[in-house]
Amino acid sequence: QKPTRIAPSILSADFAKLGEEIKAIDAAGADYIHIDVMDGHFVPNITIGPDVVKAIKPYSKKVFDVHLMIQPVDLYIEAFAAAGADIITAHVEAGPHIHRTLQVIKAQGVKAGVSLNPSTPESTLDYLYEELDLILVMSVNPGFGGQSFISSQLRKLEAIRKRIDSLGLDIDLEVDGGVNAETARQVVSAGADLLVAGSATFKGGPEKYAENIKALRG
Ligand code: DX5
Ligand code: ZN
Repeated sequence: QKPTRIAPSILSADFAKLGEEIKAIDAAGADYIHIDVMDGHFVPNITIGPDVVKAIKPYSKKVFDVHLMIQPVDLYIEAFAAAGADIITAHVEAGPHIHRTLQVIKAQGVKAGVSLNPSTPESTLDYLYEELDLILVMSVNPGFGGQSFISSQLRKLEAIRKRIDSLGLDIDLEVDGGVNAETARQVVSAGADLLVAGSATFKGGPEKYAENIKALRG
């Protein structure tokens, strides 16, 4: 388990000034920039496409962590990689062939991640570990910021942490949804080392971002 890193989700940023918001979270100590891509089909919300990723890329040199909540997914990977994604994560539930999707991501020369919804068991990763740079455990149902943390996902984090360590692989274990200063402590002790936080990062406006990120890091 690596030192805790924080990935603010820009879903909770002010979209009217996205460039400035990204500069502000970068300066406030964000490790990764988490970008939530939603299609109104795989999840009941619509957010950001590759052109927006491309437009904000110059505002930070931090890792662009692109979380695709879209179906189909393979068709759009090239565009997100070209737009500046450093890691691309797809949902195992988006199918139909998640192993192929990971190969498509890696063929673009970017890192590959897989995400699991709260109801999806960790066993779905059994034949994927060797392909992965990142595993994203959803601790809310994907679609919206500001939802409450689902605590059954702590068990899933513990199981995946054990597996990563026993295989001796270098995989980020990321958690996304309802992460605040309290739940951050729980997910870190369950094995997460990369914490997505939308509302907990952006609450209170730019002058609070550094304090908010520090509180999450614990
Ligand atoms: C939810 C997104 C999350 C979301 C997290 O579908 O994947 O990244 O923005 O928001 P908070 O931290 O407010 O739960
Ligand atoms: Zn996300």
